[in-house]
Amino acid sequence: MATKPSEHISLELKPDWDASNTEASRKFGRMNPHLPTYNRGMDASCFDDMKRYVDFSTADAQLLAELAEPLTKRIPSLVAEFYAILQSDPRAMEVFAGDTDQIDRLRQSLALWFSRLLGGEYGDAYYQKSLDIGHTHVRVNLPQYLMFTAMNVVRRSLLREIDGLDLTDRAAYRAALEKILDLELAIMNQSYHEDLMARLKTLESVRFEKRLDEARHLASLGELAASVAHEIKNPLAGISGALQVIRHGLAEKHPHREVMDEALKQINRLDAAVKDLLIYARPKPPQRGPLDLVSLVRRVIMIVRRESGLGQVKITVDAEHDSIEMIGDEAQLQQVLMNVIINAAHACGRKGTVQCRIQRIGAGARLAIVDNGVGIDPEVLPRVWEPFFTTKAKGTGLGLSICHRIITAHGGTIALESKPNEGTQVTIDFGDRNSGAGDSEKV
Ligand code: HEM
Repeated sequence: MATKPSEHISLELKPDWDASNTEASRKFGRMNPHLPTYNRGMDASCFDDMKRYVDFSTADAQLLAELAEPLTKRIPSLVAEFYAILQSDPRAMEVFAGDTDQIDRLRQSLALWFSRLLGGEYGDAYYQKSLDIGHTHVRVNLPQYLMFTAMNVVRRSLLREIDGLDLTDRAAYRAALEKILDLELAIMNQSYHEDLMARLKTLESVRFEKRLDEARHLASLGELAASVAHEIKNPLAGISGALQVIRHGLAEKHPHREVMDEALKQINRLDAAVKDLLIYARPKPPQRGPLDLVSLVRRVIMIVRRESGLGQVKITVDAEHDSIEMIGDEAQLQQVLMNVIINAAHACGRKGTVQCRIQRIGAGARLAIVDNGVGIDPEVLPRVWEPFFTTKAKGTGLGLSICHRIITAHGGTIALESKPNEGTQVTIDFGDRNSGAGDSEKV
């Protein structure tokens, strides 16, 4: 063996490196039409980065090419050694899934791989080929750890072969080999990473399409609901007005008075549902202005006590400051707070308590509405923000989705935690009052 770099040695083994032509690619590519496709060549500069990192130089390439001459004749026994170890491992053998021809094909592929490893050319074509081999392994479901353990076998065999050669600068040859094997591992690892990213992308786009479909469906449902609601709104107001006139004309003790009251109550319910539908389907952008969150919360609690017949529920305010100034649409935020506080009060029944904790967080504010009520079933929890979803006999199921929309349009977030029989906490984080987040968004 020459101790100085010699001229390039040509090898007898001439691989056909068209990856799309390999048995594995043909077989697994066609069998799995849903497997992700890869962006070939996208990342060739990545190989330069890898080489730079391990300080792989043209001198290393030259040293590897020099090894080809004495090692080519050893390739069959290196392949045999590799497969003897592989065949003794049941988990590794699972990869072949009963296809015995595959093992023979692999012997051939590995022999070609050894010769390419010592081919002296480590440019983009080399990188692409190694990446393709990696993708073949991904397609045959080769566990990633086996890639590393198998490479260790290859590494030990080749280093042993180098140690058996008559070389003056053995360390340099060994170092060159170590570098190229680590590069091989890095590339194969990259294949697994690309595969994972491609799968994630596919998954994301499937999810996105699904969400888009749902959104379209809901939008048309909402539009339909809104036009029905719009048609109902005016006649309803007319009926309510007429009933009130009749009721007014009835004597104090007239037996029909009670009936009229009940009818008016039901009309109010219908009216509230119609309003919810219209708000949901025809949202308005927030009309922002300065407001004081603490007094807004206190006012809402007063209205809830007065109007909802929930007088017995204890509703308290626990505010760190007398007032917390913020910018927002007062009417919309009032609607959110009414919704959440009424929900909380309903959940805790007559003897429960609802606590409204308000604090300043940086330039924003946080309101936590905590009740000790019945809580929400964990199975139902993920669906509470969905429009038209409700577990109540009465109600449109739009309340929380409207709250979500309004808060998001204000640049804030609303979250809900709950434990059955312990209670529920709704946390609203109002965005930074100095930022115009959500200005352009619709509610
Ligand atoms: C350093 C380790 C390894 C190297 C260098 C290597 C190399 C190769 C090469 C060059 C191919 C041909 C790929 C193509 O042309 O697309 C291949 C395919 C394959 N490899 Fe590996 N391999 C290694 C480890 C393993 C291990 C540990 C297993 C199984 C436990 C394995 C299973 C396979 C299978 C099933 C194929 C597809 C064969 C076919 O159907 O044609 N490989 N490998």
